[in-house]
Amino acid sequence: MPKLTVINRAGEESTIDADNGLSVMEAIRDNGFDELLALCGGCCSCATCHIHVDGEWTDKLPPISADEDDLLDSSDHRNATSRLSCQIQMTAALDGLKVTIAPED
Ligand code: FES
Repeated sequence: MPKLTVINRAGEESTIDADNGLSVMEAIRDNGFDELLALCGGCCSCATCHIHVDGEWTDKLPPISADEDDLLDSSDHRNATSRLSCQIQMTAALDGLKVTIAPED
């Protein structure tokens, strides 16, 4: 099962199991991180699942869609590593992915 390392807003790092096929958002939420609101449930319409992806992983992720790109623009905390975690599916190729929950907007 792929591993996912999550850094919360306090800077604490945890490594969790993330089933293949779950989104990164679902894996984070299902492991008790209440900072990731994910208010729209993964429909790519809220941007409350914003994460920053560790630099070595940014090129390995699926491309960003126009909708995701537009939503991320609504965040004051967007940077070059920003993604919406509901738009990234966990796969074996992402085993070891490391992400940081973005500050709240
Ligand atoms: S959960 Fe709403 S955009 Fe990701």
